[in-house]
Amino acid sequence: MAAIILFARGLTKHYDGIKAVENVDFDLTAGQIHALIGPNGAGKTTFVSLLSGRITPSAGTIQFDGADITRLPAHSRVARGIAYTFQITSIYANLPVFDNVALAIQRKGSKHLKTDTMAALARVGLDKMADQTAGTLAYGHQRLLEIAMGLSMNPKLLILDEPTQGLANSEIEAFKALIRAVTPQTTVLLIEHNMDVVMDLADQITVLNFGEKLATGTPAEIRANKAVQTAYLGG
Ligand SMILES: Nc1ncnc2c1ncn2[C@@H]1O[C@H](COP(=O)(O)OP(=O)(O)O)[C@@H](O)[C@H]1O
Ligand SMILES: [Mg+2]
Repeated sequence: MAAIILFARGLTKHYDGIKAVENVDFDLTAGQIHALIGPNGAGKTTFVSLLSGRITPSAGTIQFDGADITRLPAHSRVARGIAYTFQITSIYANLPVFDNVALAIQRKGSKHLKTDTMAALARVGLDKMADQTAGTLAYGHQRLLEIAMGLSMNPKLLILDEPTQGLANSEIEAFKALIRAVTPQTTVLLIEHNMDVVMDLADQITVLNFGEKLATGTPAEIRANKAVQTAYLGG
């Protein structure tokens, strides 16, 4: 039986009466690709922000890799192996692409900074743009740069919020290959709107709707789920 690397119980976040995330139980199996889907405003970004520690829950608990991380600040969770990228890019826009990744790698301590940085950039196909100022990259490439920064830390869990937004079809194919290649060493949780990407990549899918978990299952189970079809898949 595969190990559960992360589980959340009763995870809840309220904002002045808005139930952004409501009493969600969630299991993440080590080595798998898990997709989080649901309509806009369903609570997906809030949910992964609770997992990464960017925001604190109103209620509930989070266990990661055998430890309770519910009250840990984000940087402690990064140190424990949780890397994440957000819907809004958080690169250093004025620095070259190379420096963005080199800074991320440096934090981990690297003996071969140049080689490791170029290898991380090559993984996402940005090695030829290493000298370019990061803020001048196309939006989709900025997302890929963030993924390179996250992966350069060799995380146990990589959380991605809408990583394919702004990518061309050819780049989406490369993204899918990349995500397949990082598993099972890295567990991947991704928020994704492109249903082709979701159905193609995910081992498990969780559907959020109005902050609540509507369903969890394999792509086939989710496709066949009547409640999911009504709320999200437009069936
Ligand atoms: N900082 C915040 N303050 C108030 N309401 C918020 C905040 N962040 C999110 N919300 C609300 O919580 C709900 C879920 O938002 P979000 O997690 O961004 O959804 P999704 O990522 O699925 O589109 C929405 O109704 C949103 O307006
Ligand atoms: Mg969102």
